[in-house]
Formats: sequence, structure tokens, C-alpha cells
Amino acid sequence: MQLRVVVDQPWDVAADVLAVPFVGEPTLQGVLAEIDRRAGGELAALVAFGELKAERYSSIVTAAGELRAGRLMAIGGGDAGTITRQVVVRIGSAIERRLAGRSVKTLAIWLNDLGDRIDGGVAAAAELIARGVVEGEFEPATIYRDNFKSVPPALDELILVAPGADAAAVKKAADRGVIIGEGANLARRLDNRAANDVTPEILAGEARAIAEKHGLYIDVIDPARAAKLGMGMFLAVGAGSDNPPRMIVLRSGEEGATDAAGRRLAIIGKGVCFDSGGISIKPANQMEEMKMDKTGACTVIAAIATLSRLAPGTPLLAIAPAVENMPGPHSARPGDIVKAMNGKTVDIINTDAEGRLILGDAMCYAENLGATHMVDIATLTGAVGRALGDQMTGAFGTPQAWYDKVAAAGERAGERYWQLPMIDEYRPDLDSWYADFTNTGSPEGGLVKSALFLREFATVPWVHLDIAGTAYFHKKTPYAPTGATGVSHATLVELALDGAK
Ligand code: BES
Ligand code: MN
Ligand code: ZN
Repeated sequence: MQLRVVVDQPWDVAADVLAVPFVGEPTLQGVLAEIDRRAGGELAALVAFGELKAERYSSIVTAAGELRAGRLMAIGGGDAGTITRQVVVRIGSAIERRLAGRSVKTLAIWLNDLGDRIDGGVAAAAELIARGVVEGEFEPATIYRDNFKSVPPALDELILVAPGADAAAVKKAADRGVIIGEGANLARRLDNRAANDVTPEILAGEARAIAEKHGLYIDVIDPARAAKLGMGMFLAVGAGSDNPPRMIVLRSGEEGATDAAGRRLAIIGKGVCFDSGGISIKPANQMEEMKMDKTGACTVIAAIATLSRLAPGTPLLAIAPAVENMPGPHSARPGDIVKAMNGKTVDIINTDAEGRLILGDAMCYAENLGATHMVDIATLTGAVGRALGDQMTGAFGTPQAWYDKVAAAGERAGERYWQLPMIDEYRPDLDSWYADFTNTGSPEGGLVKSALFLREFATVPWVHLDIAGTAYFHKKTPYAPTGATGVSHATLVELALDGAK
């Protein structure tokens, strides 16, 4: 897709479709009034008819009259007071998805009304809209078939219309948005793939291809090496499957290098290619969703690739422990005692609390490689989805200053996080008769306890993002299909870019 920025008025832009996002009520003043006049009063008629409404992401497509575009789309941005960076991304996606199944090669989007509502103005709107359009192109229904009818159009050209703006600055911002959107889609495509298609070994192969394409260092640790390294928790989870586990390690920048923020940042993603629960097997209902339990891994792999496109050579480590959690003759049993890489012993009382086991060893390994700051990302608990739903990621971290840095990156990325407390009083619930601690306690406060478990494997500043609620949608919205959302990819990229030269 080509990207072009024009500073002409929207009525002078030739494209298959001109999309006009507006904020608040469709009162048709200023630029909108002129567009309506040239479109022969179509917009005013649709407002009177009740078809064109203020509601966020609601849209109409109509004849363009004397506009130079072939068709006109108007789309509601919703209440001015609640326009966020995330809303702007989603408007971009909603425009693209509204055109699914239609013949569109060139799409023009007018930016000014949105640009007036966010920090960074029109350039920021360009970045976020471009990212949204690219994310809107993603359609998981096409991964395994080519007869799906309602595919969002593959654009030849996206034209951003920003009268009065500095075209070069707007273009630069939009290019960045496209790259971040493409990275999110790379993660989503992997996330959505089935467990019979993406085993730990295949995921490692995908990571290798990505590393080669972007000039990243890669190391894939097999079970024999993991055993030598003492990754007892990781190996216990992987033992139940015929598809052996892989610890995937990617690096950008030189070995041991510190980034411009003085950090050696590691991002660590849970890569459970299928989570049956193991011997503590899950109920059949919705178990198929557990192919998405590798989303954290896919996200960190995509994020380091995106970083290498935006700021090549910036130091970053991405670690993705990849396993299949299966019942079988070699599976870990409830009550098995294993030793983590940091020497702590763990009593596996529930084999379905596997994410924290593989992440714990990955965090130890990150620190062994010299990480000074860590963020892990995982579809870790059903509880976070029950608490916060699919719009807000639950997050933990210590010290607070590091959490705040991650939260600030999330803000820039237009992603939502809710900080949850690590309540020390609950830690004794993980005490074990036989080992240093168990991997689960009683269900009350289980979300907090999952973070208390992970904290046992962090000696440097660390943040934990529980994306079990936000990683994939169960139903489509105007801005996204069912399936992987790409959540937190942009946050991790923004965080890593804090360390770019
Ligand atoms: N992968 C699941 C968490 C999950 C649940 C993700 C639903 C997405 C949707 C995780 O490994 C798990 O099984 N967690 C258990 C933990 C419990 C045994 C302490 C859970 O949340 O029930
Ligand atoms: Mn599980
Ligand atoms: Zn899991």
C-alpha cells in the first residue's frame, strides 16, 4: 500500500472513496457543510432521515455528487470529550472494515476534525489513522481459505487529507503508523493460526524467518539445553506433548548493549501453542480458544521485528517460551515438584496454571542474559477477563516508577491498562509443604496470586501484562473482526523506542 499526504481540501481529492470522520453531532458546519453542498445535500438528507448519526463508528456510504471522489463515507467519532488515541486508531480500522467486500483501491481520509482533538494534532491523527487502516485490513477468516466474501479491501493507495498541515511531518508520522499496524497484524496472523499448524517448533521457525528478514540475532533452546540451564518449570509443562518445547530468544542490538535509556530491556511472552490444561484438564466448552494461548509470544516476536524497522540496532531482548500443555504419559502431575532456573522449588498443584511456570524460567533466563528491566505479556488468567473484560488489560509491576514508564508507553500507543495490586498478605496462600511454593492457591484473589508467583522470578524492575481478556475478541465490532486483536504490540514498541538513539 502506497501512502500519500495531500494538503488540498477534501473535495479536491480524487479517490475511490473519501472518508470523513466527524466528532460530535453531524451538524454539517464548516468543511462538512462544503462537502455536503458538493455532494448535492446527501449528508443533510441522511441526517434528516436518521441514517447519519453521531454514534461512534457508525457510518454511511453515499453518492459523491461533484466531489472528485467516487463515493463519500461519513463516520461518527462520537462525543468530543471522549476521543482518545485508541478511538482514532479504531476509526481508521472502522473505515477500512466498513468497505469490506467493496471495490476500493484508493481511499482518502480527511484528518482535521480528529487532529483537533488529540495531542500532536494532525500528525498524530495521521499516525493513528494509518495504523488503524492497516489493522483494519487484517481478516483472520482468510487464513485458511480464499472463498471468504467480505474481505476488507487491499488498498493500492491510502491518501491522508490534511489541508494546512506540514505534509512532510504528517507523512513521517503516518509511515510510522503503517509499520506499527503491520507489526500488530504479524502478531495477529500467528495468534489466530491453529495448534495443529503452529507447534512450538513451527513458532520457532517463524521467529527464525522474522529474525533473518530483520537482521535480528536468534537462539532457539531445545529441551536438552533447557535441562542443562535448569529450566525445570518450562520442561515440566512441555513434557506432556509429542511436540517438544522451544525457548525462543531474539535480540536486536549488540550482545550486552545498553539502550539510550540506560536499560537492557527484555520483553517476555507466554507461548502456549495449545493449553488443554494438562492433567488438570480443562472442560471441553471453549477449549478451542486455547490455541490463542501463544498470543504473548507472538506479540513479543512481532514487537522486536517492528522495533528493528523503526529504529534498527536498538537494544532489546524478546524471549518466548513455547510449549504445548497436554495430558499424556510424560506430563507433569499435580503434586510434582520441579526446580526453577533460579533454584526455587515449585509444587505444581494445578497443571493448568502453566503460563506462570514457563514465564518464570524465561524471566530467570532474561536476567541471566543481563536484562535490567522486564515486561512479560501473557494470556495468564481467566480471572482478568472476568474482572476487566476485553477492553482493558490487567497489569502489575514493581517498582512503581517502572510501572509508570510502561503505562506511559501504553498511553502513547492508545492502549488501556488497569493496574492491579500485589497484595503481600496473599503470598502465604502459595506456601507448600514440600517446596518453596505452589503454582496456585485458592481461587479467591487468584489474579493477584498469579502475579505474586511471577514476582518470585524477578529481581529487576518488572511489569506483568495479563492479556487473557484482551488478546482476542469473541465477536466482531465495527473496528475489529473476531479473533486476535494485536493488543499491547504498540505499547511494547513504544516502550522499546524509549531506548532508541
Ligand atoms: N491460558 C489460561 C488462561 C485463559 C483463560 C486465557 C481463558 C484466556 C481465556 C491459563 O493457563 C489458565 O488455565 N489459567 C487458570 C489458572 C488457574 C488454574 C489458577 C485459570 O485462569 O483458570
Ligand atoms: Mn492453563
Ligand atoms: Zn494457559
